[in-house]
Amino acid sequence: MLKVKVAPSILAGDFARMGETVRKLEQCGADYIHCDVMDGNFVPTITFGNQMIEQIRPYTRLPLDCHLMVLHPETRLESFARAGANLVTVHVEECRDHTVQTLRIIKNYGMRASAVINPNTPVEHLYDCVEDADMLLLMSVHPGWGGQKFIPETLAKIEKLRDFCVRNGRPDLDIEVDGGITEENVDAVIEAGANVIVAGSTVFRSQDMRWTISRLRGV
Ligand code: DX5
Ligand code: ZN
Repeated sequence: MLKVKVAPSILAGDFARMGETVRKLEQCGADYIHCDVMDGNFVPTITFGNQMIEQIRPYTRLPLDCHLMVLHPETRLESFARAGANLVTVHVEECRDHTVQTLRIIKNYGMRASAVINPNTPVEHLYDCVEDADMLLLMSVHPGWGGQKFIPETLAKIEKLRDFCVRNGRPDLDIEVDGGITEENVDAVIEAGANVIVAGSTVFRSQDMRWTISRLRGV
């Protein structure tokens, strides 16, 4: 059974006090800080860029897990590496036939590399990435906003992807799921084969962040 890691999404956090926010997430037992970078083009929302990564870097030792919801992510990689990003995820819908090449460039900058697909993209579109990726991400909501409802069809995609990884020499590849995850549905997500849990709203609306983060590791 793979170790389950919890990656709170700072999209749901207080942008005016993000340093203290990430420090608190680390104190409450988070494994990663999930940073939702949005450029207002790939998705309608604009959030933040490499400067936010640079500014929160000194506040935590946790890996900064940067989800790039941007056009031409290959043009942003050096700036995120310089900013202190540890893991960068790029969208297959944007990288298309140069996704594997982009994963290799991310790794050349000394970061871990991950690819992501949206809910409407078939899971087969990630298969070419399995060999090179350090992690693969399945969106369980349509990207652009926090607080959406989990799309249940994602469970079958998780199972299919984990099965493909097992059958293709990557049984322990991290599979991250992102969007609409709560205490009520997280056990099914883990059961299906995911082991990295992104949660924004569930963590930030919690009365006891430490308990909620621990609960998101599954019972
Ligand atoms: C959506 C982001 C998700 C989102 C998760 O585009 O990629 O990371 O912030 O937030 P919740 O957990 O509130 O759905
Ligand atoms: Zn995300």
